Amino acid sequence: MKRKIEFEFSAGLRITHWLRAIAIFVLTVTGFYLTYVFIAPAPSDEPVLFLNAKFRMWHEIAGFVLIAVSLFKLYLFLFDRISGKERLSFLDFISPKVWFQQIKYYLFMGEHPHLRGAYNPLQFIAYVGLYAMVFVISLTGLVLYVHGYQGGGLGLFLYDYMRPLEAMMGGLAMVREIHHIVMWGILIFLPIHIYMAIFNSIMGKEGSMDAIISGYKFPEQNSKH
Ligand code: HEM
Repeated sequence: MKRKIEFEFSAGLRITHWLRAIAIFVLTVTGFYLTYVFIAPAPSDEPVLFLNAKFRMWHEIAGFVLIAVSLFKLYLFLFDRISGKERLSFLDFISPKVWFQQIKYYLFMGEHPHLRGAYNPLQFIAYVGLYAMVFVISLTGLVLYVHGYQGGGLGLFLYDYMRPLEAMMGGLAMVREIHHIVMWGILIFLPIHIYMAIFNSIMGKEGSMDAIISGYKFPEQNSKH
């Protein structure tokens, strides 16, 4: 079977994908700790433990990595020349024919539709949903953040912008609640995302998982994908 090599994802897109995966992993582990303190150091009279503060620090570091990476990824999506294929996905997204074909494909009832862009419509809407969740979790994260760092720097700068948002959301306790609930939205997205990626890789037989690592996939010479 003859295959061609097709470039799909730029280096910037791939690096930000994996950076974001690592950030979300760190944020989830440390976030669960902030919700429920599941380990504590042996008690000491000296003020040297600060385990909670250390977890919060790593949470905030990973939080800012997530924010930076998401902004950069958004920039690539909108403006990068090599990422043009991502933008073309919008044409597939607004095509009812592609929607029907894609759903039939997932139900083992038909062939994969011919796509103009990088993502099929279900993928596209899932990623828009993910961006919406990352946006809300980042914003609520920043509202929580400024309360620990309003003495100077970025915390002080953001403080006056975040306080009205905090009030709109119903106070700090509600902000924490929203932040926590959105985490579960992301945690539900993840296994579906991984299942779909594996499904497409196995069923499509064109190394679509390779594309997010090396940038290239290997469709058949006359492939419709
Ligand atoms: C995937 C992304 C994220 C996840 C899964 C996540 C998860 C969590 C969870 C579960 C909590 C505890 C809330 C509670 O139950 O009381 C929390 C608290 C917090 N998060 Fe996030 N978070 C994320 C992103 C961010 C971002 C982007 C920031 C911004 C820097 C941030 C800053 C904070 C802060 C400051 C707290 C409060 C810590 C405290 O009160 O001691 N988080 N996060």
